[in-house]
Amino acid sequence: MNKIHLPLSEVYGLLEPGPVALLTTAGKARPNMMAQSWHTMMEFEPPLVGCIVSDRNYSYGLIEANGECVIAIPTVELADKVVGCGNCSGAVTDKFAAFGLTPVPAVEVAAPLVAECFANLECRVADRSMVERYGLFVLEVVRAWIDPAAQNPKTIHHRGRGHFMVAGKTITLDSNAK
Ligand SMILES: Cc1cc2nc3c(=O)[nH]c(=O)nc-3n(C[C@H](O)[C@H](O)[C@H](O)COP(=O)(O)O)c2cc1C
Repeated sequence: MNKIHLPLSEVYGLLEPGPVALLTTAGKARPNMMAQSWHTMMEFEPPLVGCIVSDRNYSYGLIEANGECVIAIPTVELADKVVGCGNCSGAVTDKFAAFGLTPVPAVEVAAPLVAECFANLECRVADRSMVERYGLFVLEVVRAWIDPAAQNPKTIHHRGRGHFMVAGKTITLDSNAK
């Protein structure tokens, strides 16, 4: 292997898991949402998701206050809106109005689903023991919604510095993973 040093600040772009999501929270005046890509599965069932939310984000206070959120998963058609939600604060912007996305009441939590997203996961904070240190919320998915028409959804995956990979074809192999 030919090799050059990769700046440590760029490592995350290689390993960053999963699709960029919208993390919604309930608020007193209005619901909020932020772009969220630092998340990882931790358990199959009940599904546990580790999710990093920086305390610099307005969403941090809302998820702390409510102990709930929704992880909404968009496809590439929503990419501009998703990144827009990641570049402004819900403290001053009504993001659902600003980006033309539609909040839909969830069943188990006060945070809204996002109608335009093909999947929505209603979550409760299951463990906040690493929140102060890492901003790591362990979330339990308590209800999950999927658009049955979504076939091979083209999710977007952050590769760092504004570059996104769009999910491509699906291949099926024998695997011990569920
Ligand atoms: C593609 C993308 C992914 C992001 N992923 C995260 C993340 O995983 N955790 C986080 O705390 N902030 C993440 N952000 C930053 C927040 O979305 C951003 O700070 C947002 O403005 C916070 O909104 P809020 O202040 O309304 O909560 C991401 C931003 C982008 C554009």
